[in-house]
Amino acid sequence: MKEVTTDNREWFQDWANEYDSTLGKVKRHHKMLDQVVRSSGIKRDDLVLDIGCGTGLLSLKFLDKAECDITAIDSSAEMLEIFQEKIKKCRLTGKIHCMQKSAEDMDFGPDKFDIVAATVSLHHVKSKEPVIRNIYGCLKSGGRFVIGEIDMDTTGKPDDPDRLLRILDYLTKELVLVMKEGGVQAFERMYDNGKKHILNDGEYCIGFGQWAELCRDAGFEKVEVNPVEGFEWFKVLVATK
Ligand SMILES: C[S@@+](CC[C@H](N)C(=O)[O-])C[C@H]1O[C@@H](n2cnc3c(N)ncnc32)[C@H](O)[C@@H]1O
Repeated sequence: MKEVTTDNREWFQDWANEYDSTLGKVKRHHKMLDQVVRSSGIKRDDLVLDIGCGTGLLSLKFLDKAECDITAIDSSAEMLEIFQEKIKKCRLTGKIHCMQKSAEDMDFGPDKFDIVAATVSLHHVKSKEPVIRNIYGCLKSGGRFVIGEIDMDTTGKPDDPDRLLRILDYLTKELVLVMKEGGVQAFERMYDNGKKHILNDGEYCIGFGQWAELCRDAGFEKVEVNPVEGFEWFKVLVATK
């Protein structure tokens, strides 16, 4: 089998311009982002880190809820460019600080943030353990790490039939939804994305049992997982330091 790429940067470079008109149109995505913001317990003046911020959909929801201060990182310059246009347009320059940075290269130092959040971004990281340990380190005591993710274990070999069935089950639910709400353009994008999940090509999903275990191993004391209501193949995890 041909060697697949492991860095997704080109894929996101290509997707950036149509992110908001594809996944950004899907109600389920917004429902998950809203649940992440609600579960985070965000309050005024909190320092927030948004990992894999993309076009800023999550960061902007945090700011809608509370007057907080956001550091937003993403490995894609093109995604950040779109987010920065929104920041300028909404006059939020002093409230959101964008940086082109990969989750694997974070160097924020200890006890910095009240909330670290990541929505459908950390499954792109192949080696998750060091990243979660780093997140634990950069949170203040009592701080929360909140993830909104697909609840799907895609570890293993592409030709494992059980693994393939798990991915196809997810894709059946997701593609119908995406076609209905995002139209053909969104369907096309997510259909191509499905192949990347199957081939382990920059997509490395794990189940929430595995996310919870990684958090406990990193030192988080309390870990809570809840499904996104009506879309149980997505879940939100809150880990408290
Ligand atoms: C599906 S988008 C999610 C964007 C946003 N969080 C949202 O929920 O709408 C995934 C984002 O993660 C970014 N990303 C992928 N791998 C990354 C990594 N290793 N470090 C930082 N960002 C990454 C991509 O560039 C992309 O913007």
